[in-house]
Amino acid sequence: MAKKMLITGASSGIGKAYVDHFQDKYDLITTARTEKEWITDPGDITDRDFRTELIEKHQPNVVINNAGGFRGSFEETYHLNTIAAGHIFEGFYDKMMPYTHIFNVVSYGIRMYGWQDMSKERSYYYSSKKAFYEFANNVNMSKNRPVHVVNLVPGIVKTEMVDADLARRIKINQGHVEEKDLDYYLKENYHRGKIPFHSFFPIGREDLPIISEFIMTLPDYINIDEIVVGMFNKQQLPGKPTTQ
Ligand SMILES: NC(=O)c1ccc[n+]([C@@H]2O[C@H](COP(=O)([O-])OP(=O)(O)OC[C@H]3O[C@@H](n4cnc5c(N)ncnc54)[C@H](OP(=O)(O)O)[C@@H]3O)[C@@H](O)[C@H]2O)c1
Repeated sequence: MAKKMLITGASSGIGKAYVDHFQDKYDLITTARTEKEWITDPGDITDRDFRTELIEKHQPNVVINNAGGFRGSFEETYHLNTIAAGHIFEGFYDKMMPYTHIFNVVSYGIRMYGWQDMSKERSYYYSSKKAFYEFANNVNMSKNRPVHVVNLVPGIVKTEMVDADLARRIKINQGHVEEKDLDYYLKENYHRGKIPFHSFFPIGREDLPIISEFIMTLPDYINIDEIVVGMFNKQQLPGKPTTQ
């Protein structure tokens, strides 16, 4: 019988990259609100009943706990990134078979302490991810169950969302600053000592499934608690890196 992998946030971006990479290797259980042909269990993970149904219905060998993102308010952001992600993590951690895997897609933002004029949305996002990460890490450290828990901590991943954002930032930096973008530009360019986001080489979305697959080849007695996937600044690299 084929092993089962459950992927949340599978309609686009990183989640879709997991679908593409693992579709021939696992029976996939996929969720998102948007109904696409590859989504098996459409629904909203901020709905407690939907999450409970998902947890009760499925017994996967691998969970990619990936759905998340920016939202406009503290409450909405925590609801998605902390409460929903935390419930899905806990629900599956408590029921999965020994030596199965849960990958939590967190964010490099958990290492950030903020900067001058940072946007409110980014504060909600980073801190909600950090709260979830602390919970998952504490549960993982307890080793109350022999389930592999890996917190994936990526920097900027090249997804449609990030592409659109980068295009906008480049346009702004070329001098075509529209009034509506000005406030955003001023706030976001304070990131990491005024190095703007677009000066980093983003991580390919296909890189994360490859990392997960490698971790799953390791012996059962090893647990990789955390993988931090950082980035180089473009100015530090001579020429283009091989895969981008
Ligand atoms: N891109 C980056 O630079 C980056 C870096 C570090 C970490 N991350 C994290 O990686 C994860 C995936 O992000 P991404 O960049 O791939 O963004 P994305 O393309 O916007 O994907 C987000 C996924 O989550 C789903 N989702 C959002 N809200 C949902 C809800 N209420 N119920 C069910 N599904 C929901 C979306 O599907 P629907 O809209 O169809 O529901 C979509 O499939 C997120 O947790 C994000 O925080 C991203």
